[in-house]
Amino acid sequence: MRYCNIGEAANSLARGGVVAFPTETVYGLGADADNCHAIGKVYNIKNRPLNHPVIIHLLDGADIPYWAESIPREAYLLIDNFWPGPLTVLLKKSKNVMSLVSGGQDTIGLRCPSHTVAQDLLREFIRLKPSKCGGLIAPSANKFGKVSPTNSRHVFDEFSQESYSGMMILDGGESSIGIESTIVDLSNVVDKYARPILLRPGHIKTSQIEEVLGREVSFATEHSPVVPGSLKAHYSTNTPLEIIKRELNFDCLSYVNKRIAILSCDAPPAFLPKCFIWFEMTYDHDLYASKLYSTLRYIDRSGFDRIFICNLPNSSAWDAIRDRIYRAAASFI
Ligand code: TXA
Ligand code: MG
Repeated sequence: MRYCNIGEAANSLARGGVVAFPTETVYGLGADADNCHAIGKVYNIKNRPLNHPVIIHLLDGADIPYWAESIPREAYLLIDNFWPGPLTVLLKKSKNVMSLVSGGQDTIGLRCPSHTVAQDLLREFIRLKPSKCGGLIAPSANKFGKVSPTNSRHVFDEFSQESYSGMMILDGGESSIGIESTIVDLSNVVDKYARPILLRPGHIKTSQIEEVLGREVSFATEHSPVVPGSLKAHYSTNTPLEIIKRELNFDCLSYVNKRIAILSCDAPPAFLPKCFIWFEMTYDHDLYASKLYSTLRYIDRSGFDRIFICNLPNSSAWDAIRDRIYRAAASFI
């Protein structure tokens, strides 16, 4: 595994290689969406079950009809308002989408990242494609079920033991948003009675989507399509993680010789026993999101015994953060 520049990354992808690249949400593990062999490598490296679909990343909205069909006007409304940016739309897939990409489902997730390095990479990759049309599949660049990476160092740490040596990493600094894209399923809205469905909350809020569409969005149910992020346990740290709703109990006796990380929006109390290390987050939800995964990964690297997360606000602006933290905690119940 080695670092590379945009030209090398695009060349490698065009020849069936695997390249981790930055997006504004999290880093993705990219491969040519038209190359079954390359996509198979990504599933292998991530240890991802084959029935979990991946998102295709596009340079812009121009080639949507190549990847999707029966495209409702709602899709174009969302794309006009939120692309490039952290929004994935789910549409009926076209015959050009390989079933390995869609995990055997009849839909395809499309997203256009705004990160300039991702944009430059897609532009260069498409220039190398004989058809001048192409996209990159890119699940988050972490082992299946783990915390997503928000910088290239995270990716390196995650895969440094990986036996597939051809993988490259394109560095683009810190991902500014820090949690994965909002996913909206529009595959059924051609039926005027069917609502768009929010499959994964993210930086773009439900209220913003409803405002643009002028109609209500439903929330995913157990009958919605398979979204691994919607498995109860996901985004899992190595260190046991617990959400604390009651008053924090600083009774150190139960934590003798332990190191406990506490993530809180508040400042630490005046007296804090030595076994607790306080990570002061923030009441600004966007800033909290941008710090969350790097803080969890730092704690995982630093020999803590337990993570307590407390005082998460209840408002809908925190939906995406609560979603990720509750699923992370679910791994330890
Ligand atoms: O922000 C993001 O979306 C990042 C960056 C790299 O773009 N990517 C990302 O990919 O989070 P991934 O694979 O880690 O999560 C995508 C989620 C998965 O839970 C996947 O199952 C779901 O989207 N998904 C993708 N295509 C789908 C489809 N056709 N039907 C249902 N769920 C789908
Ligand atoms: Mg992921």
